[in-house]
Amino acid sequence: MIRKIQHIGVAVRKLDDAIPFYRDVLGLEFAGIEEVAEQKIRAAVFRVGESAIEVIESTSPDGPVGKFIEKNGEGIHHVCFQVEDAAAALAHAKEKGVRLIDETPRTGVHGMRIGFLHPKSTFGVLTEFAQEEDEHA
Ligand code: CO
Repeated sequence: MIRKIQHIGVAVRKLDDAIPFYRDVLGLEFAGIEEVAEQKIRAAVFRVGESAIEVIESTSPDGPVGKFIEKNGEGIHHVCFQVEDAAAALAHAKEKGVRLIDETPRTGVHGMRIGFLHPKSTFGVLTEFAQEEDEHA
């Protein structure tokens, strides 16, 4: 069901400060910036082979990433697994007793259908499932 690590999400205070590290120091391919208003974030995506690093800044202190940084500081925020069917993956996790943040998939970065599992149920790692738009379209 899980195909690969789609991306790792990294929370930063300021995207503009973090982009040069990923682009110029690590030399990763910069795939652009996207705003997801619903999650109160802006994300810069860098490709790493078949996976990516999603560098995220909060557009509001009361957004989920703003709160995360306030509590934990900058750093790894979540791990995202690519799945064939995000709704089915969430349902499967719930059936296995995992607490969900999203009961049903919503739209995330790059129009992917995404949903999160609660870190209290996943040994401290905020876990995301993402279904790319070309699948089950
Ligand atoms: Co993500």
